[in-house]
Amino acid sequence: MSEVDVNETDPFMFKYRGVYFQTEYTSPQKIDSIQDFKVKDSDVFLVTFPKTGTIWTQQILSLIFNEGHRNGTETVATNYRVPWIEYNIKNVDYDNRPSPRLFSSHLPYYLVPKDLRNRKGKIIYVARNPKDTAVSFYHFLKVLVKIKEVNEWESFLDHYLSGKVIGGSWFDHVKGWYTHQEDFNILFLTYEEMKKDLRSAVLKISKFVEKELEEREVDTIVEKATFQNMKKDPLANYTHVSTDHLDMGKGSFLRKGTVGDWKNLMTVAQNEKFDTFYHEQMRGIPINFTWDIN
Ligand code: A3P
Repeated sequence: MSEVDVNETDPFMFKYRGVYFQTEYTSPQKIDSIQDFKVKDSDVFLVTFPKTGTIWTQQILSLIFNEGHRNGTETVATNYRVPWIEYNIKNVDYDNRPSPRLFSSHLPYYLVPKDLRNRKGKIIYVARNPKDTAVSFYHFLKVLVKIKEVNEWESFLDHYLSGKVIGGSWFDHVKGWYTHQEDFNILFLTYEEMKKDLRSAVLKISKFVEKELEEREVDTIVEKATFQNMKKDPLANYTHVSTDHLDMGKGSFLRKGTVGDWKNLMTVAQNEKFDTFYHEQMRGIPINFTWDIN
């Protein structure tokens, strides 16, 4: 176990193996134990950097595996259908969950179960323009109870660029997963392509997870996964989560759901600084995602 760095400015976070985690919900020992989690071929892991459309993809995945309707599990929210492997808050027996088991994770590639690296199980990785991710994160800090809020956008941006947020550095996360993709059985998607054509994204995911859907089932999934419908769906919008964890009076998981919101918050100077940093960090990485960084 390598050294644990407790964040002096935010005791709600600790840094372990290069990444920040929420102190309240996990520990270095738990993170280490994930390496040996036994993966089954039928498992599906949804991996994202925070604020990238995780709950959106959770909704799509859980609907795909329930043939477009909730079919007898109407009372189960998506965070229990697709729970976090690194934040097992309710101490669920993940080993013995019925298959196909669905999991979410914000972990970097080197901290996930070793079995995944042997191409056991499937991974869906969703990325989003790091500028929109930063803006979404900044607003979401108000909602997260067990994390210190950074009031100033400028300060938050510095934290974000230097990886001092839950999930660590966006750049390391995306680069790591992208450059190690050959090791995994992985499907890359972007938030932007899901926004552009949700139906195609649903079909891509269902094909990847080998779940054949009828036309009307695809229609239902697309319908239930739109921003407007998810916003009013209590099983998908996290409003059921206790106010000890999320203060929905201060914001919402489904905030705006748009592409390019960074333009409303970033100054010209901040944008230039971001671009310079982005190009330094991503130099030589042949990533051809669908967003336009500008
Ligand atoms: P914004 O804050 O920009 O609105 P995560 O689930 O990884 O925390 O990501 C949350 C972001 O995904 C939020 O972005 C949220 O609005 C957006 N999102 C969630 N569901 C969505 C949907 N159905 N359509 C579009 N965006 C969605």
